[in-house]
Amino acid sequence: MHLIKLGGSVITDKSSEKTLRKGALYRLTKEIAASGEKVILIHGAGSFGHILAKEGKLNGGFQGEWQFEYFSKVQKDVRELNLYVLSALLDAGLRPVSLPPSMITIYKNGVMEHFVPDIFELYLELGMTPVSFGDVVLDKEKGFAICSGDHLMSALSSLKGIETAIFVTDVDGIYDRPPDEKGAKLMKEITPNSEIATKMLNEDVTGGMKEKIRHGLLIAENRVRVRVINGLVEGRLEKALKGEPVAGTEIRWSSHD
Ligand code: IPE
Repeated sequence: MHLIKLGGSVITDKSSEKTLRKGALYRLTKEIAASGEKVILIHGAGSFGHILAKEGKLNGGFQGEWQFEYFSKVQKDVRELNLYVLSALLDAGLRPVSLPPSMITIYKNGVMEHFVPDIFELYLELGMTPVSFGDVVLDKEKGFAICSGDHLMSALSSLKGIETAIFVTDVDGIYDRPPDEKGAKLMKEITPNSEIATKMLNEDVTGGMKEKIRHGLLIAENRVRVRVINGLVEGRLEKALKGEPVAGTEIRWSSHD
């Protein structure tokens, strides 16, 4: 069984509010179906979440009632994106079931405190494909918090039977500096000791690549193979799901794994 996160940068155009990349989404869901593998699917928010979450300073928690409008709008918008993902999965022949984080998690000081992984397990046993996504959730101390898809990937990686966690992004993997900078080198492998240049521009409220590396290492600690691949290149997700080699970055707990 595999955990997949379709990054918001692959299924949406991050620079333009609420813009779906329909072609990429439908191709990726077809690749998942074609692999024949059992998966839990997580997706990011992209331009359905980050733009307004940043404007409403939602990541910092409650500051004033003016933020409630942003909270409600972001929750509504990420659900709209989730509906597009559900439609694409159904079209590909899969049987998705949507599990919004705001209904199954409670945060405390920006950290996931309560989570109900059993729901994912039971739907999987039933034969369906659980789907969850980046959302705004309750936080006991801060009022509310952002639950990113990366948090969900870590939380689910301790479930029994997870072989791989695949982060599907819009670049080939993790680079030693921002990928568009001259001389940027793709890191084939990252371990806790690798020297990673994380001075990348991080405009995202959830911290972009740096967070991905941190969560990737947490997942690898559970002896799950972590791969970061490019979802804009046709066929890579399907191959990765089948365990075949593809260009990308592997995150390992130690280089002897
Ligand atoms: C962010 O989720 C959720 C919100 C901003 C509401 P992610 O952090 O998983 O989304 P992407 O993949 O970066 O777009």
